[in-house]
Amino acid sequence: MDGISVFPNPRRRATIRAMQRIDKTPKEMEKETRVHSMFADISGKYDLLNALLSAQRDRAWRRFAVDKCLLRPGDCAVDVCAGTGDISIELARRVGTGGKVIGVDFTYEMMEIGQEKVARKGLEAQIEFVQANAEGMPFDDDTFVAATNGFAMRNVASIERALREMRRVVRPGGRVVVLELAKPQIPVIRSLYDPYFYHVVPMIGRVVGGNGGAYKYLPNSLTHFPPRREILDIFAAVGLRSAKCYDLTLGVATVFVGVK
Ligand SMILES: C[S@@+](CC[C@H](N)C(=O)[O-])C[C@H]1O[C@@H](n2cnc3c(N)ncnc32)[C@H](O)[C@@H]1O
Repeated sequence: MDGISVFPNPRRRATIRAMQRIDKTPKEMEKETRVHSMFADISGKYDLLNALLSAQRDRAWRRFAVDKCLLRPGDCAVDVCAGTGDISIELARRVGTGGKVIGVDFTYEMMEIGQEKVARKGLEAQIEFVQANAEGMPFDDDTFVAATNGFAMRNVASIERALREMRRVVRPGGRVVVLELAKPQIPVIRSLYDPYFYHVVPMIGRVVGGNGGAYKYLPNSLTHFPPRREILDIFAAVGLRSAKCYDLTLGVATVFVGVK
């Protein structure tokens, strides 16, 4: 499909292939395969489900995350695990016509929907989708002013490898921003949230998306996602300084920010 490239620069293919040969355990490979086929299956319903399940808060969360990138007109940013491109579109608004946004994802079907949205909004000149793995991206070191990742750190095989890779492609002084769902820390909110997340979310997923399994995966993936403190420790371990996190909407979403 027009607008989605496997590699932006064919002359660098050898380097890129070498970079993408990451040693993964069988469990990590199994997770990637499962995540990839799940998103390929639900791609057509992803945007609707996202809006429904977050009571349309997802847009405000993405805007908050993009604010934290501190982008200026003309900048260049990468949206890692871009999916259907909503963060990429928000980034493109900030960098303007003189800037560039690359959306990276390994699920073609998600980017295909993203590409249609980008075309409808007339942003083709600013946003390019690239099919690649978040843990081995086909870009030089120090390329982008900021790297974002929205709702996908739960999905990658290794959070540390994905963050290390985001840091690698960002310029010194640039920002790595991660938006993720989180478990509310206030007990009363938590007692309301758990039944919603563990029972209502899979039910809505089954009714609207026809894929209850996929939306059962969502609560399970959050159960196994490390707490905020651990994520901040990983930021520090990969060399991202001044790491901070911001809780949004009573703590059901969190934005993590670190500086290279
Ligand atoms: C929940 S969606 C998030 C999409 C988008 N960022 C958003 O804000 O809606 C997660 C996306 O991460 C992608 N993904 C998961 N693991 C990946 C990996 N290792 N490399 C590239 N993409 C990955 C999936 O294909 C999917 O499109």
